Amino acid sequence: MTITDQLQRPLRDLRISVTDRCNFRCTYCMPKEVFGDDYVFMPKSELLSFEEMTRLAKLFVEFGVKKVRLTGGEPLLRRDLPDFIRGLSKIDGLEDVGLTTNGLLLKQYGQPLYDAGLRRLNISLDALSEKTFGEMNGRGIGPERVLANIDYAKSVGFQIKVNMVVQKKVNDHEIVPMARFFKERGITLRFIEFMDVGTDNGWSFKQVITKKEILAKLQENEQLEPVAASYFGEVAGRYRYTDAQAEIGFITSVSESFCSSCTRARLSSDGKFYTCLFATEGFDLRSILRSGASDEELARAIKSVWEKRVDRYSDERTEQTANSRKKIRMSYIGG
Ligand code: GTP
Ligand code: 5AD
Ligand code: SF4
Ligand code: SF4
Repeated sequence: MTITDQLQRPLRDLRISVTDRCNFRCTYCMPKEVFGDDYVFMPKSELLSFEEMTRLAKLFVEFGVKKVRLTGGEPLLRRDLPDFIRGLSKIDGLEDVGLTTNGLLLKQYGQPLYDAGLRRLNISLDALSEKTFGEMNGRGIGPERVLANIDYAKSVGFQIKVNMVVQKKVNDHEIVPMARFFKERGITLRFIEFMDVGTDNGWSFKQVITKKEILAKLQENEQLEPVAASYFGEVAGRYRYTDAQAEIGFITSVSESFCSSCTRARLSSDGKFYTCLFATEGFDLRSILRSGASDEELARAIKSVWEKRVDRYSDERTEQTANSRKKIRMSYIGG
């Protein structure tokens, strides 16, 4: 029997947050009222080195992880990311490495990342309007630079998906223009229901636009048909346009939760292991790692945490749980 067979629930994806810093202050993630200029991010000494992250990633792969996604904060703020990717790409059994970014620094790092073996990028963009996007990213930055970097990344050869968090009365007027824009370019746009991650973004059900509402709006002008999931545990529900080579997706954590097929583990930049995006506590792998533990000891710790996992936060979400529980920050754990 392999280690994987012994696990009660499959562990297929590992999301690694490489830094908690970000050059944006998205209202739904790091509102600038909370994350002001004097906000203290994690000191460098707290962060795992890329060697430490690679060692842990290897162990997770032994437990069945096939896919690693790098997130942040903004992952491109961490220097030497291409070297890390090069190391990850060499792990036997790891089939896929992806990166989720706000796209601002892609012009600078796109080619080195591609050369290091990265092929898949998920880029966040919430609006095409200068005003709406500038307000949502909290920095007054317009969409042109992100759009230019999407084009650039495409020309480098990346497979790209765009993530749009939809908030009622904030950017719902952008649903149709965004869909049209990315349909024309053959790029998959994913609509993400605004989630109650962390405790800082003032979430309430009232601000959520559901997949059903978004789809109805799009179907006024478009013919869309559902596409079957391409693997167990795929997060986005997908649809294709019947008259174009393009798809859209929905991430429906609020209206149609998907906890029963959740195969994702999360590692924070300071080495805590979380079994849910909405967790309160993580398991401190860094202190075990830095105490000189062997791979066997680390593997035993990972296994015991995952085996005890009972997470199904989105299945059980209510307005009350959303606002009363202490939850980890999105920018800390990377979504
Ligand atoms: P690919 O399928 O590899 O393209 O990646 P992904 O869609 O899982 O990753 P991405 O970082 O682009 O995340 C898109 C959105 O899905 C973000 O808002 C994440 O927070 C959300 N998401 C990803 N995994 C989970 C999960 O396990 N639970 C919940 N509730 N949301 C998730
Ligand atoms: N609700 C939904 N999605 C969010 N993201 C960040 N905060 C939230 C939230 N509160 C998205 C980002 C990025 C991805 C990693 O998570 O826009 O695309
Ligand atoms: Fe930064 Fe992403 Fe959070 Fe926006 S959603 S503040 S880009 S980490
Ligand atoms: Fe997985 Fe937690 Fe998201 Fe449910 S809420 S899908 S258990 S990460």
